Amino acid sequence: MANIVLVGFMGVGKTSVAAELSRQLGWTVVDTDDIIEADAGLTIPEIFEKFGEPHFRDLESQAVAAVAQKSQQIISTGGGAVLRRSNVDLLKENGTVFCLTATPEEIWQRVGHETHRPLLQTPDPQGRIRQLLAERAPYYAQADHTIDTVGKSPQDIAEGILQILDARTPGKVGAEY
Ligand code: S3P
Repeated sequence: MANIVLVGFMGVGKTSVAAELSRQLGWTVVDTDDIIEADAGLTIPEIFEKFGEPHFRDLESQAVAAVAQKSQQIISTGGGAVLRRSNVDLLKENGTVFCLTATPEEIWQRVGHETHRPLLQTPDPQGRIRQLLAERAPYYAQADHTIDTVGKSPQDIAEGILQILDARTPGKVGAEY
């Protein structure tokens, strides 16, 4: 009973799609950012501010290692979880990894008004989005499948994911995958 893993840049809709998949399959959603915050007793901006990004990445790897051991979960990851190869390897060992994508403009529209993402608290967040997307493209390309989210609802995207899994595995995903 492997996991369904969602990776992709901030604001591509991982959380909404995870909730929709959970609704359809009855599987639990685990979100690595939520685990990090609960374990640390701090918010992500607080972790970045007090300890810096490298420490956050260590906590993220610990969260990935913990969730990857269990099965039949929808795993929603932070946008940078793919940056460490060991994270991707662990997630792929026990799951199918889907990368959700969107254009920089769409991402900006979705996250521009939010303040809880430390990497975007810069004078030029739109430039930062484009820069990070370019830097991270090879990391996101490690996913098993890539799904463009622009113009699609979380229901459409969840449906697309389930169709891909059904096509690969006979029988119902929830029962046999
Ligand atoms: C990050 C994405 C965030 C969170 C942290 C760093 C990133 O998660 O893990 O702010 O490096 O892209 P979301 O993708 O859920 O916003």
